[in-house]
Amino acid sequence: MLRVQLTINGYKKELDVKPDEYLLESLRKNNYLSVKKGCDSSSCGVCTVLLDDSPIASCTYLTVKADGHEITTVEGIQKEAELIADFFGKEGADQCGYCHPSLVLTVYAMKKELVKPSDEEIRAYLVGNLCRCSGYLGQHKAIKAYLEVAV
Ligand code: FES
Ligand code: FES
Repeated sequence: MLRVQLTINGYKKELDVKPDEYLLESLRKNNYLSVKKGCDSSSCGVCTVLLDDSPIASCTYLTVKADGHEITTVEGIQKEAELIADFFGKEGADQCGYCHPSLVLTVYAMKKELVKPSDEEIRAYLVGNLCRCSGYLGQHKAIKAYLEVAV
């Protein structure tokens, strides 16, 4: 086992992990259960977390590589997640919800990185986030509406 130091949702944590353990496993083992497993191969984006504010696929990111970095999961941005979820609800984009934690984190990162993104920029930013319910149109409208009011 190796000891890594992470700041998760603003709290300093020390985790003992296997050298070949991925962040998805480490986070779920420590009860960050909003982080979901999908393809397990960097293809669907459902395991997305933020590493120093940038979205990454936690299923293929070794936990030891994250040593010393900041990780954000949906548990750490509850208020923002509820606000985004309201917009999803208004657009009927709240289907099974399995992709929503990853989507919320990606939208949160986009809000910080892009100023008034165009439709194309929004689509490009979300290209790695697949929704198996294919609610893309409603999600897009909800995200656009959220970005217009979010500060
Ligand atoms: S579970 Fe990580 S990208 Fe699909
Ligand atoms: S809402 Fe079901 S996977 Fe996206």
